Amino acid sequence: MALTVVMSAGVLQTSAKSLPVYRDPSRPLDERVEDALSRMTTQEKIDIIHAQSKFSSRGVPRLGLPDLWTDDGPHGVRPEVLWDEWDQAGWTNDSCVAFPALTCLAASWNPEVSYLYGKSVGEEARYRGKDVLLGPGVNIYRTPVNGRNFEYMGEDPYLASVMVVPYVQGLQDCGVAACVKHFALNNNELNRHTTNVIVDDRTLYEIYLPAFKAAVQKGKAWSIMGAYNYYKDEHLCHNQRMLNDILKKEWGFDGAVVSDWGGTHDTRQAITNGLDLEFGSWTDGLANGASNAYDNYYMARPYLELIRKGEVGTEELDDKARRVLRLMIRTAMDYTKGDGEMCSEAHYDAARRIGDEGIVLLRNENRVLPIAKAQGKKILVVGENAIKMMTVGGGSSSLKVQHEISPLDGIRAAASSCGMTVDYARGYVGDVTGEYNGVVTGQNLNDSRSAAELIAEAVGKAREADYVIFVGGLNKSAGQDCEDSDRAGLELPYAQDDVIRALAAANPNFVVVNVSGNAVAMPWVKDVPAIVQAWFLGSESGNSIADVLFGEVNPSGKLPFTFPVRLSDSPAHALGAYPGVKRADSDVWDLEYKEGILVGYRWHDTKKIKPLFAFGHGLSYTDFTFGKMTADRAETEDGTVTFTVPVTNSGNVAGAEVVQLYITDNKCSVSRPAKELKGFAKVFLQPGETRDVKITIDRDALAFFDADRHEWVAEPGQFTASAGPASDNIKTTVKFKLK
Ligand code: GLC
Repeated sequence: MALTVVMSAGVLQTSAKSLPVYRDPSRPLDERVEDALSRMTTQEKIDIIHAQSKFSSRGVPRLGLPDLWTDDGPHGVRPEVLWDEWDQAGWTNDSCVAFPALTCLAASWNPEVSYLYGKSVGEEARYRGKDVLLGPGVNIYRTPVNGRNFEYMGEDPYLASVMVVPYVQGLQDCGVAACVKHFALNNNELNRHTTNVIVDDRTLYEIYLPAFKAAVQKGKAWSIMGAYNYYKDEHLCHNQRMLNDILKKEWGFDGAVVSDWGGTHDTRQAITNGLDLEFGSWTDGLANGASNAYDNYYMARPYLELIRKGEVGTEELDDKARRVLRLMIRTAMDYTKGDGEMCSEAHYDAARRIGDEGIVLLRNENRVLPIAKAQGKKILVVGENAIKMMTVGGGSSSLKVQHEISPLDGIRAAASSCGMTVDYARGYVGDVTGEYNGVVTGQNLNDSRSAAELIAEAVGKAREADYVIFVGGLNKSAGQDCEDSDRAGLELPYAQDDVIRALAAANPNFVVVNVSGNAVAMPWVKDVPAIVQAWFLGSESGNSIADVLFGEVNPSGKLPFTFPVRLSDSPAHALGAYPGVKRADSDVWDLEYKEGILVGYRWHDTKKIKPLFAFGHGLSYTDFTFGKMTADRAETEDGTVTFTVPVTNSGNVAGAEVVQLYITDNKCSVSRPAKELKGFAKVFLQPGETRDVKITIDRDALAFFDADRHEWVAEPGQFTASAGPASDNIKTTVKFKLK
């Protein structure tokens, strides 16, 4: 007993008197960082700036500084892999909740939902002992064929800038660092390691940087992931302009730059061009990884050699170590953020709510939707995407879920609760594989019937049904919505158009549910009365889809990117600016962003090319009426103006509308898009209710980036504010002057 007393007294004495500063949570962050740094050897500083395993980097055991654990991905916490391999570790307690893909989050246009998302996935990551979650991704949707658009937040820099911040805050409130990616200009997957992006500064600052800047300056992101590609002929994982000049100097980023896995290619560049934490390098220096060869990393032994030979100093090393220590203290060493939780009811509710708010009702002629619940009515569900698991595959965002409610399951559950029957027909056979990286779906989707037989079966049943719901779209296999590859075109794969046309002819109560993270061509759009854009919705997919189809939820999603009628209508393809030009003497592709700032609706508006469905488009089961917009002043000195838009729910069910505010510079010394999104507000209204929606803008909303002066400029003169429920549906405008 005496020993215990002494020991406890000893501990008490120690804790009362001299807890070292770097371990003392009451001390300011940077004091703790400096104290830790002052105690570390050069070797220890080298140890913490590169990986020690596939997803972790080393701490300093001598000082009790913990290892740092990272994991994918933006939509949920990736299952555990082996220490030094991508293969599954085979744990039985790492099945997670898959939240909807980030295109769905963007489509909700609701920052509250974004915070809920970040907090929920942050709790899952915290519970799994992860200090850095490798997401969210905010690369701008420049082309509809980019394989990873489903992981990002659409084509508009303002929407992405607003929606990324609460996600980062929610995540980091759990003591888990966001690692916002892929910084920057990683806008397609084809040749992702060898594309050298050529883009003018105005386009860079107006289109491709804002979401990252907001994540850093407003979200206070604790880490950023460098991209694979080149910019100004330097890899973005060690890029002087992007990482040092812009991210760290101009924006004041105090966190750590993490390489993409295998994105580091040169020791000297890594030392001087802003990389802080190297992961996933190919350690045999060629194309593949020699096992457990982390000392071969560019920022490991080779770096130490240069220091020992006196060829480089330790100033950059100290800066890197500081940034990694900051990351460590903010996450692994913050014991106040609780232990998180995994697969909780709250997380399933969150996943379902995000899905419910992000699904977009694209078309609803003759009010086919919502499905009228009626005893004995028959529903036919057709399509592979009604049954195929979508949480497995797609690249690094692939997950091992505790459950995934398929669209068919969700529709069945909702229908049976109101006495309706549901039948199923395959309709088409697409991708029958059921495994990614060792995670298996357990589904056997094999079906040897011919396309004609499958269509005949579906049409035969469709003629007997009261409702027909086709669930198709893309999936997570290579060449569709998948990392490291792009699509070859805009068309739906597996001849789905034929099935859709046949079903449209067989039954007027016909709904197409498109499951995808990208726009697709819809040549049959006029033949299909109801179309729903249902994203990759994760664990609660079927429930969210059923919620909307049966009217439990009134859809309120709005498209975060344009659906062009054909690929050549979209700017990168209209100008032949994809995938770029391969250099004769190397594997580098030069890709010039010839469309400049005219990305997405900026192109369609300015060139007057009518889209299939416009940016910001999304219908409701109720009707909304916009009153006349007013401004609180006709002239503004500092750019501040508050607009008031009266919105009425003139229908007979509750619902939400997103008031979108676009700004036009009526006269400017440079050409500007026809209009640009500079404000929005989502408002929930009961039937008959009117709300005065107020949106305030400031000078930022009026400015363009003057590359010559390298600053944002708002030229005095007249501007027009336009408000409406979609970029192609402006209801009210008001002019005002910047003095
Ligand atoms: C992948 C992806 C990146 C991911 C990382 C780790 O190649 O580009 O988004 O977080 O490697 O899996």
